[in-house]
Amino acid sequence: MNTSISTAYNYKVVRQFAIMTVVWGIVGMGLGVFLAAQLVWPELNFNLPWTSFGRLRPLHTNAVIFAFGGCALFASSFYSVQRTCQTQLFAPKIAAFCFWGWQLVILLAAISLPLGYTSSKEYAELEWPIDILITIVWVAYGVVFFGTLMKRKTKHIYVGNWFFGAFIITVAILHIVNNLELPVSFTKSYSVYSGATDAMVQWWYGHNAVGFFLTAGFLGMMYYFVPKQAERPVYSYRLSIVHFWALITLYIWAGPHHLHYTALPDWAQSLGMVMSLILLAPSWGGMINGMMTLSGAWHKLRSDPILRFLVVSLAFYGMSTFEGPMMAIKTVNALSHYTDWTIGHVHAGALGWVAMISIGALYHMIPKVFGRPQMHSIGLINAHFWLATIGTVLYIASMWVNGIAQGLMWRAVNEDGTLTYSFVETLAASHPGFIVRLVGGAIFLSGMLLMAYNTWRTVRASQPADVAAAAQMA
Ligand code: HEM
Ligand code: HEM
Repeated sequence: MNTSISTAYNYKVVRQFAIMTVVWGIVGMGLGVFLAAQLVWPELNFNLPWTSFGRLRPLHTNAVIFAFGGCALFASSFYSVQRTCQTQLFAPKIAAFCFWGWQLVILLAAISLPLGYTSSKEYAELEWPIDILITIVWVAYGVVFFGTLMKRKTKHIYVGNWFFGAFIITVAILHIVNNLELPVSFTKSYSVYSGATDAMVQWWYGHNAVGFFLTAGFLGMMYYFVPKQAERPVYSYRLSIVHFWALITLYIWAGPHHLHYTALPDWAQSLGMVMSLILLAPSWGGMINGMMTLSGAWHKLRSDPILRFLVVSLAFYGMSTFEGPMMAIKTVNALSHYTDWTIGHVHAGALGWVAMISIGALYHMIPKVFGRPQMHSIGLINAHFWLATIGTVLYIASMWVNGIAQGLMWRAVNEDGTLTYSFVETLAASHPGFIVRLVGGAIFLSGMLLMAYNTWRTVRASQPADVAAAAQMA
């Protein structure tokens, strides 16, 4: 028995994180659908502080980014680092701590945000005691991940692990620097930065949360699961190394594009704009490398909905990383900023890229870690694929229309210099778009419910002996 354990991958923690990804995906996106409904029918705020848009919005962003996205990253990195290093996870007890610690962080967020406890920094709203817990769990994650790399049986470090490694290290630094704060009570703290410096640090964090949490980590996922599912080697190993170094070097400078036309010095805004434009190249390097990995395997798209999820996610990644640099141009940003265009851009990345690559990776991984030959139903994966794609397209198309209409209406002036439209008129013009976004979001969410059912049937069919056999190292 002991020999089998010593030659088996640690899939337990992967299974736990994989299941919770599906659970938090449904919770977080369910909240998103509810928020979208509130924007259509404001009565849904129920006149209560706990259910108001202002409190539930950060709950949604934290749930989808850190609970759904975070669990997907933990699951996929713990799975792929073992397999690419041909060794078990380092320190299994610390890995188990990562799972329970991260769920505790999520639970504390779910309680404290509706109660109104917030540091008021976007994507870093959680108060200082939870920030400390996040730091401890994140260091534990680093110990397990890099410990596993150090005990690897393979000679080189696979490129997917480079991306996961950069994501882990950078997120630790971003989290600590942006959350330096002075506690005044157990539930309230104030940032050590003030004024324009605070804004700069916040968006250095905010943009790199996009760059490293929502991009580098998911590129790590892409580099493992796309070649695996396509059964082809990565298109170009050289390109992967070049775009890795270019991506991590450039992202760090792009934050000021969130602060165009603010009190931030003009040169910093222009620097952020230029760096964002250059960022298109490494972003597309990653997309092209992923897409071209399918060379000679394109026909598989006809029959493999998992591969379709992965490829379409890359297409959305390419699209949102084209749109982002365009929006970073100051004159374009003058139109797009504060409008729904930004929300559309966010969800092109969030639904199209982050959620779809995670869903594809989970459909690949779940049967493997539960000792099943494949998911319970391939037909349901196919249905999920179409629901996710149609939902994303409806979401982002409605937000483009709304965003451009809002931007143009806000800036329209009459001959005598007065504004042509009142704010309420732009809001009324946005209403149809809000309805289409709600429909798109609900369609996306319904796909997640199919996934939950498919996962439940797959897990229910799995036998302990198959699970143990599946974990054996080849
Ligand atoms: C069914 C799916 C989803 C729906 C219906 C939805 C809906 C919404 C709504 C209504 C907002 C507020 C928009 C506003 O203030 O005008 C929002 C914000 C946001 N959502 Fe989602 N969402 C979904 C999925 C996701 C996912 C999967 C992610 C990330 C992985 C995500 C990340 C965000 C972020 C970052 C914001 C804040 C954007 C900003 O401040 O510019 N959402 N979402
Ligand atoms: C080359 C890559 C990218 C560039 C240069 C870029 C650029 C931008 C710009 C200019 C904005 C609008 C800032 C504003 O007017 O306030 C923005 C907002 C945003 N982008 Fe991107 N983007 C890129 C890729 C992505 C991807 C792949 C994602 C998601 C996975 C993403 C997520 C977001 C989020 C969440 C916001 C809203 C931030 C906020 O105001 O709350 N971006 N991005």
